Amino acid sequence: MEMKKIQLRAPLAIAMLMCLIISSSAALLGGFSTADPKDPQVVDSAKFAVTEHNKQNHTDLVFNKVVKAERQVVAGTNYRLGIEATDNGAAHRYIAEVYVALNQTKFLTSFKQLGN
Ligand SMILES: *[C@@H]1O[C@H](CO)[C@@H](O)[C@H](O)[C@H]1NC(C)=O
Ligand SMILES: *[C@@H]1O[C@H](CO)[C@@H](O)[C@H](O)[C@H]1NC(C)=O
Repeated sequence: MEMKKIQLRAPLAIAMLMCLIISSSAALLGGFSTADPKDPQVVDSAKFAVTEHNKQNHTDLVFNKVVKAERQVVAGTNYRLGIEATDNGAAHRYIAEVYVALNQTKFLTSFKQLGN
């Protein structure tokens, strides 16, 4: 009687453990996680986003600071950044996405102004 219970539970425990391992490694590989807004790589990527956006849209934004940062490790790193920048003297918030390739080349993938 005791033996049968144990035999039935073991596969269940293993299945649960597998689920746990799979979901936690998926989170590590796939998801965005919070990053330090003052991390030099975060700040570099945010400055790049503002500069690149200025080039692409012929604007004249001045980078102030990163207010929020998230990082996703892929083949390289994706950054999702909340940025404060000044446009003609007025501070605005923007959400930028920057991809930093393994060779450190940066690409601006998205740059949007948040609603005033
Ligand atoms: C760096 O990698 C990116 C993406 O793989 C590629 O587009 C770019 O040409 C590379 N740049 C250099 C300088 O190797
Ligand atoms: C930048 O320019 C593109 C193309 O002209 C436009 O679609 C986009 O909305 C602009 N971005 C911002 C933040 O104004």
